[in-house]
Amino acid sequence: MRRDTKDLATPGPEAFLRLTDVGVTYTSARGSLQAIDNLTLDIEDGQFVAVLGPSGCGKTTMLRLISGLLRPTKGQITLRGRPVTGPSPEVGIVFQNPTLMPWRTVRKNIMMPIRALKLPESEYRGWCDELLSISGLSDFADAYPHELSGGMQQRVGICRGLIHDPKLLLMDEPFAALDAMTRERMGAELQKLWLNTGKSVFFITHSIQEAIFLADRIVVLSDRPARVVEIIDVNLPRPRVPRTQSLPEFGRLSAHLRAHFIGDEHDNHDSTGERAST
Ligand SMILES: Nc1ncnc2c1ncn2[C@@H]1O[C@H](COP(=O)(O)OP(=O)(O)O)[C@@H](O)[C@H]1O
Ligand SMILES: [Mg+2]
Repeated sequence: MRRDTKDLATPGPEAFLRLTDVGVTYTSARGSLQAIDNLTLDIEDGQFVAVLGPSGCGKTTMLRLISGLLRPTKGQITLRGRPVTGPSPEVGIVFQNPTLMPWRTVRKNIMMPIRALKLPESEYRGWCDELLSISGLSDFADAYPHELSGGMQQRVGICRGLIHDPKLLLMDEPFAALDAMTRERMGAELQKLWLNTGKSVFFITHSIQEAIFLADRIVVLSDRPARVVEIIDVNLPRPRVPRTQSLPEFGRLSAHLRAHFIGDEHDNHDSTGERAST
């Protein structure tokens, strides 16, 4: 189950996404802050990777690096062997907060990456309808964001991340603000979409249960500056269903991961003791 993190420093030639010795230092008037240090990680094509780490350790920074929205201070990031230098049509992003344009309809919000990437809109309208249908939003295609619940807005954000059919989907705690029932349903939908499309998913979460339920691999990060402290393969059968959570292996992984975060001063356990961080 456990991979030695040393293996990550000598990755094979086939990596889909590769971070090599990446560091990020933020500089502001108050001084400099090292958010990420010596981060080395390979992600294989088609994998579902979950990232768990303490609050403020650098998870969102890592996602911004991979998306090309932020350049590393040191090290290198490559996607299919090419350096990441800016936003790419191969990458879709679902932010923690969907930040929809209030003056645009649901459909127009979802289509925004198509415009930004200067892709032909007519070719993506059908897929937009399909995404609206998958996410139960067909009746709200022409509604405005303020007419939607928080959960619905988040679903619009997910559709927007998928509209240009990216090979790699980056998700930053996408279900954190959802109620438990919606969260479970969205997790199941995401799994279905992933199983049907073969995309690679890079999924940041503060829920140990969610990470185990969804991922092939779980990357555990240290306190800031973020480094990889452990990588765990999750070998539970697919598709994962609610019953999967009662399998002994699920419980074992859960206990193992929880041990990483006990005593974490930023810890944010909920009543089930499930949460590792925010
Ligand atoms: N634009 C920024 N300028 C300065 N510091 C930042 C900036 N963004 C994030 N940080 C700092 O970098 C650290 C990591 O932040 P972040 O990646 O958002 O963590 P996480 O997503 O794991 O909670 C935090 O200490 C945060 O305050
Ligand atoms: Mg974050």
